[in-house]
Amino acid sequence: MKAADLCRKTAGYCNEKGYVMEKREQLYEGKAKKVYKTDDPELYIVSYKDDATAFNGLKKGTIEGKGSINNRVSNFLMKKLEEKEGVPTHVVKELNDRETLVKKVSIVPLEVIIRNIAAGSLSKRLGIPEGTPMKTPVLEYCYKDDALGDPMINDYHILAMGIATREELDTIAAYSFKVNDFLRDYMKSAGIDLVDFKIEFGRTSDGKIILADEISPDTCRFWDINTHEKLDKDRFRRDLGGVEDAYNEILKRLLGE
Ligand code: TMP
Repeated sequence: MKAADLCRKTAGYCNEKGYVMEKREQLYEGKAKKVYKTDDPELYIVSYKDDATAFNGLKKGTIEGKGSINNRVSNFLMKKLEEKEGVPTHVVKELNDRETLVKKVSIVPLEVIIRNIAAGSLSKRLGIPEGTPMKTPVLEYCYKDDALGDPMINDYHILAMGIATREELDTIAAYSFKVNDFLRDYMKSAGIDLVDFKIEFGRTSDGKIILADEISPDTCRFWDINTHEKLDKDRFRRDLGGVEDAYNEILKRLLGE
């Protein structure tokens, strides 16, 4: 059957090449998302779950509505980053509340963290009280490896282990600071301090580095500018209560709903 006929039959979304954009074989299930193949070999569908974990999976729970909020918040911010800052991202099209068509990438196994205000593991490691503004943004890399507990590494490890080339790492760092500059200003206009965040990058089939994974209350620390109330996953990690309300507040402040 031709792709166009298939499309009509399934009422699925078709891309410009006539491929049916429906979930096919599941490729991967992570802690917060599932990834599916599509009929287009260069495109995947990401499906966001309500499942939440912390401390490398030791703590497990559900945050009702999280999948949909993270999907929409992440797409909203990534689209802006692409349009306004020229940062290439994996987002192609939001298909529904929980699912997004994305470019196929192979994930660079790095968690790139930028911190504007001390919190979390930086406060613990360096004895800097949470809430202390950093004089300049701090860039950290962690090696994505659950068995090792995602250890922090530096440029030298990354080059020596062949995780990325010098050129790729320069691109990753430059994009990450662009994300920070944009996101910090944008969140400020929504009455939120961007304390820190974690992002991930992928390589496309033609070897380009693009922003992948997600930017959401799961992967950022967002504090209300006036009350300093935590509006992110720390409410789950630290059993603070009001988790769903915090995620909904972020959705409301960014997308107005
Ligand atoms: P940390 O202070 O615990 O190192 O976290 C730094 C940032 O990274 C914070 O915004 C939360 C985010 N993060 C993730 O997205 N995934 C993780 O697994 C961890 C530990 C942190």
